Amino acid sequence: MYAHTYLIPSPLGASHSLSNADLFTPLRLGAVELPNRIIMAPMTRSRAGDGNVVTPLTAEYYAQRASAGLIITEATQVSPTGQGYPNTPGIHTDAQTLGWRDVAEAVHAAGGRIAAQLWHVGRVSHPLFQPNGAAPVAPSAIAAAGTLYTGQGMEPFPVPRALETDEIPLLVRAFGDAAKRAVFDAGLDAVEIHAANGYLIDQFLRDRTNRRTDAYGGTVEKRCRFLLEILDAVTTAVGPGRVGVRLSPTGTFNDMGDSDPLGHFSTITEALNPFGLAFLHVIEGLPGHPMAPPDGAPHVAAALRRIFKGPVILNGGYTREAADAAIARGEADAVSFGEPFIANPDLPARFRTGAALAAPDRATYYGGGAKGYTDYPALESVEA
Ligand SMILES: Cc1cc2nc3c(=O)[nH]c(=O)nc-3n(C[C@H](O)[C@H](O)[C@H](O)COP(=O)(O)O)c2cc1C
Repeated sequence: MYAHTYLIPSPLGASHSLSNADLFTPLRLGAVELPNRIIMAPMTRSRAGDGNVVTPLTAEYYAQRASAGLIITEATQVSPTGQGYPNTPGIHTDAQTLGWRDVAEAVHAAGGRIAAQLWHVGRVSHPLFQPNGAAPVAPSAIAAAGTLYTGQGMEPFPVPRALETDEIPLLVRAFGDAAKRAVFDAGLDAVEIHAANGYLIDQFLRDRTNRRTDAYGGTVEKRCRFLLEILDAVTTAVGPGRVGVRLSPTGTFNDMGDSDPLGHFSTITEALNPFGLAFLHVIEGLPGHPMAPPDGAPHVAAALRRIFKGPVILNGGYTREAADAAIARGEADAVSFGEPFIANPDLPARFRTGAALAAPDRATYYGGGAKGYTDYPALESVEA
């Protein structure tokens, strides 16, 4: 059963494809076939064990959510300098990779598909998380405003150390190596490069945080060079059909901003096209959502949708109805859901049946064990 699409002109002269698809229409993202378009958004849950290795509890958590069209894992650091929160998992050691293999096996055994979100936090860190207590690294020595949780209380964000030009290839390689580990060693289906939410790649992309004067800063073309080099490494490692990118062009989380989100992210999105990626994942919250563009800031997701020549996943406060409408209007090919998946492991079944959604307990989002993680029941057991 295939959805057919047809083109209508938009008021801007460009066009979105109207579609008769909805959240339950199968979709191909690069090399990965999805039975539905309900994506589980990446969510940090800070429950990794010693050595930042995911535990069997994490395998159970993701397996419970295997009915998603695609699970995108919590952000997973590609190198020891990439960590900025307690107990976030890595994928740069053999033990970490074996932990992820158990997760992938559990999800596949439950009939699902899973992509690893690969990140480096950059300046959103603290010497307490860094090897040898060093300063965190960033494109430029600009501290984020605010405080972060170190596991020993709240601390002001430190001033990061600006990366030397010759250190950058090592970080690019760390992303390529992590992608290989994720796909070939751990057996996950794909990777998502985390270029959103104010972490290292986003710090390079946006002019509020990138004041470099070398080949990695100055113009938007130079600011996106780090991302493009990472995509080159990662697509060479695992093939473009297993690589997606997440962007948050108007996001302000982690003290982020940009002087021209629409212009700059249009250029960045153009630059993604030659890679033939599996998907572009854009965070632009619906009105009233905390991740909505700030007052007066342009909305850019629709423009990026027109520019990107591949499937687009939208995110930020969607309900089933809003997601179906966005797909029908051709604004997105798929929609990702974050918080709704926390308390509703069987979210697709609830959408299909119109069942009420359970409310998540925010107190158990980060850290701890099974409580608030694997103990939310699925519908059958709710009704039984
Ligand atoms: C507990 C929690 C952890 C999150 N961790 C991540 C993360 O690791 N990587 C990421 O890109 N976004 C992260 N996000 C953002 C979500 O992926 C998503 O963008 C956000 O929740 C908005 O979508 P929603 O309205 O469907 O929840 C997190 C959100 C929550 C609630």
